[in-house]
Amino acid sequence: MAIPRSFIENLRMSCDMENIVSSYVKLKRQGRNLAGLCPFHSEKTPSMVVYPDTQSFFCFGCGAGGDVISFIMRIENLDYVEAVKFLAQRVGMTVPEGETEDRASRMKPIILEINRLTARFYHDILKSPDGEPGRAYFAGRQLTPKTMVKYGLGYAPNTWDALRNYLKEKGFSYEQMAEAGVVNKGRSGSYYDAFRNRVMFPIIDLRKNVIGFGGRVLDDSKPKYLNTNDTLVFKKSRNLFSLNFAKNHTDGRLILAEGYMDVIAVNQAGFENVVATLGTALTPEQARLIAGYAKEVIIAYDSDGAGRKATDRAVGLLEEAGVSAKILQMRGAKDPDEYIKKFGAQRFKLLLDGAGNVTAYRLGDIRSRYDLETPEGRSGYLTEALKYLATLKSPVEREVYAGELASQTGILRETVLSNLEWEVKKNFRREKKKEWQDIASSRELYGDRVNPQRASNLSASLAEEGIIAFLFKNPDYLARILEKTGEEQFVTDFNRKLFHSLVEKLRLNGGAALSDFAGELSPEEMGRLSAIVNRDLPMTEQVLEDYIRGLEDAKCKNISKKAGELSREELLAAVRELQRKKRES
Ligand code: CTP
Ligand code: MN
Repeated sequence: MAIPRSFIENLRMSCDMENIVSSYVKLKRQGRNLAGLCPFHSEKTPSMVVYPDTQSFFCFGCGAGGDVISFIMRIENLDYVEAVKFLAQRVGMTVPEGETEDRASRMKPIILEINRLTARFYHDILKSPDGEPGRAYFAGRQLTPKTMVKYGLGYAPNTWDALRNYLKEKGFSYEQMAEAGVVNKGRSGSYYDAFRNRVMFPIIDLRKNVIGFGGRVLDDSKPKYLNTNDTLVFKKSRNLFSLNFAKNHTDGRLILAEGYMDVIAVNQAGFENVVATLGTALTPEQARLIAGYAKEVIIAYDSDGAGRKATDRAVGLLEEAGVSAKILQMRGAKDPDEYIKKFGAQRFKLLLDGAGNVTAYRLGDIRSRYDLETPEGRSGYLTEALKYLATLKSPVEREVYAGELASQTGILRETVLSNLEWEVKKNFRREKKKEWQDIASSRELYGDRVNPQRASNLSASLAEEGIIAFLFKNPDYLARILEKTGEEQFVTDFNRKLFHSLVEKLRLNGGAALSDFAGELSPEEMGRLSAIVNRDLPMTEQVLEDYIRGLEDAKCKNISKKAGELSREELLAAVRELQRKKRES
């Protein structure tokens, strides 16, 4: 299991951080560093920074950070060993044999075999006399026998042990079946079939492995769908239903539907390029997966409220992944399945070709809520539409739609444009402000494992970080800084550790580079240190004074707040400190 340290070190040196990250994220140079949209949370302005010096990254928005291996673990959803293998393959290195024969790589083929047999088992039942309820259900939804075979659809009979016994006979243990997710372990420790009296949708990956299942009830009982939980071979958030068929027929364009039945109905109607997520909303990983196959996606979600919300979210994620989104607007049917049944494949094709872009869809949506015959309606529409248009990135697109707004409402084009301009500026200012607040406050603190004390000591931490950054960039100030403050003044343990280590290095070598810290800090800690010293703050003596004073103030405030918890001696010391400060100021 253990991969030799020397190999990891070699691998790290062979993988250029900038190169690896830019194969997922568009990076822009910012001085010595690079910045891009963080792939680990949803955002519109770039807050992830890549530091070539230290071969690390850090996101100011969500706090994700680390080295190249942690980046790959997160973005490819791999464990440590898998990430090492993935990177090794990419740079043409071979992981030493025998070292990676871990449990996971032994279990995966077993789970895949269980899944394959399970899919076959349910499919055979569907075709047998026992499969009548399943056949009746699919027939009711107008699926042809050919489609049932194509998708390997099945029927799980209404028993607790049919599958369990079958797999046992094939030589698998109950533990193995449970790990594949096709059998559950009950409270009493006995095992039973996970899917009962459901029609079954096997989920097949690009290598034609059955990686999981969706199962639907035959009536209106709940839950409507059961999906395999994540297993060693199945990550919901990384796969798409029917991509195995769609991938060879995309023509640069994919249809994104909401669920299994929509996909199958659309596919049966002759459109192979359709996929769906697997019981979850679209994830950033799926958006990137799509980007590998298509430049354009037509979103064909349900036309209800939930569908609209999901559409909005998908549009954002797809655009971040560099895929342009169009939206299918179905009138007279709630989803593609129903639409095709009611109006046929040809009309569905027309609908696809006429799918509007996102801007038209949104403006239409806004417009439908106002009565353009009245002045109030026109002004309400204009106000809301301008707010929306102001969020568009392309100035050309903004202008085009501003022109349309003008003619719809009968208001001078110049007036519309100048109002739009004003909204755009307002947004820009708001975004800048928010960015700054994010850095200084909660979002970065959320789940702060590197410095868990930071959240409750925000002003002290900011001062500490300012002092560290100043000293890092101005090592000749060491003596002067130590005259006025010291590590005993630091409130948070992590920053104290950084300060201590920095002072030591400066004493020893007269200077310090980020890479000098690599031996003693974890990748996440490295990410944080680089974030601190790279933060773009003015570095004047006055600013330094403010930090030092700020740290003292914060510390005193902290003490007075916690007075109830202090020992007598501590309390006296604190009071003396406060008196001293009063005299000085
Ligand atoms: N879903 C789920 N669990 C549920 C309901 C829905 O996992 N309890 C997922 C399924 O992947 C489903 C998709 O969300 O395919 C869409 O849900 P819904 O619109 O309710 O189902 P339909 O696809 O319309 O299914 P059907 O037409 O069979 O009713
Ligand atoms: Mn539906």
